[in-house]
Amino acid sequence: MRHEQQVHILEQLMQQLDECRNVDAGVQVRQPTIAYVDRQLAEREWRELFQNHAQLIGLSGDLPKANSYFTVDDFGVPVLATRDSQGRFRAYLNACRHRGVRLTKSNRGETQLFVCPFHAWSYSRDGALVAAPQEDQFGKLNKACHSLVSLPAEERHGLLFVHPRTDGVLNLDVQLGALNDEFAGWDFAHYLHCGDKTIDKRLNWKFANDTFGETYHFQKLHKATLGRIFHGDTLAYEVIGRNHRFVFPRRSILQMRDIPQEKWRLTTGATVVYYLFPNVQLVVNAGRVSLVRIYTLAGDPARSVTRIGSYFTQDMIDRVASAADDPDKILVDASNVYDSGDRAGAVLSLDALMEVFNSTIENEDYAMGEDQQRAAESGRLVHFLFGRNEAPLHHYHNAFRAALGEPPLEVVA
Ligand code: FES
Ligand SMILES: [Fe+2]
Repeated sequence: MRHEQQVHILEQLMQQLDECRNVDAGVQVRQPTIAYVDRQLAEREWRELFQNHAQLIGLSGDLPKANSYFTVDDFGVPVLATRDSQGRFRAYLNACRHRGVRLTKSNRGETQLFVCPFHAWSYSRDGALVAAPQEDQFGKLNKACHSLVSLPAEERHGLLFVHPRTDGVLNLDVQLGALNDEFAGWDFAHYLHCGDKTIDKRLNWKFANDTFGETYHFQKLHKATLGRIFHGDTLAYEVIGRNHRFVFPRRSILQMRDIPQEKWRLTTGATVVYYLFPNVQLVVNAGRVSLVRIYTLAGDPARSVTRIGSYFTQDMIDRVASAADDPDKILVDASNVYDSGDRAGAVLSLDALMEVFNSTIENEDYAMGEDQQRAAESGRLVHFLFGRNEAPLHHYHNAFRAALGEPPLEVVA
């Protein structure tokens, strides 16, 4: 993001804090609760938004070396992501061309050759079938016709996109739109993968996504956790096509007024969250990016799986490592983060940073979503109400509805 835009957003947030003013959608809207429980809708979403829509599956840091790979099994098409001999990002169907077995047992690793565990057919990083044992007994095999099935794949701005259909078209110019310029400045390609977390809970995937849709709840639900670090009720928000940019201030933001503007950086005073249609929240903090991918499960509207990838800059990793040797610093680990995180001289370890983020989502936000799921399933609550200060919720659901050919949400006032 350009520096002048960062300054502009920081000034906007400071002004909103001065005036106690939040984002304002101008109207309230009604969201039918059936949208979270209807099986046919869940199946349409699964088909249209997941199986027939480009998927962001990781960051460049997930494939740091020439022979790195990782797998994805979240949208009905098993994916093997790797780099070919030219270093280009490639995605294949993770299925052997003999009889379809997965080519790797582990979800992430390094290898020059993928050897199928069933009968040991082997494939190069370019997807070519290299060898099949006992060809004299198996019969003549045209190896050139038995490469791994390739899926459309593109690495752009440090983000890895795949299309689940072999004949799918990745059109990131359109899908990212104005974010293409903005992402060019974030340098996402230089963040290193440091950890993964999976949350599998009994809540619709849209309830999971909704928890990223307002900061109205920060000083209530997250009073003892995130609310100690961030202001709620103060959101700088911009819709960008089907995506959005959502920026909220740290409690320390007003201290930036003492620093010359040319030294201002957006992530010093705020956290930036990009929502990328349909199911991704990309959370940008200083030295750290969290990639949150939220999945529906085919035909089951009452369950979702969230995958959180944590990525740090080398500089951040070094800074935390040096704190361990500094007698004036207290390195806080994941076990005591809530007791020690705000003590003077405390430096949060990478584990502690990941724990704060992941456990807040799992234990606080998604606990709300499980309650909401039960309420929606009761059938006794016909609508939810999205407030004027919950503009991102209006946007998510109107974007889903438009993609499925449904009219916009009903405006209340
Ligand atoms: S299924 Fe892979 S070698 Fe037979
Ligand atoms: Fe939250």
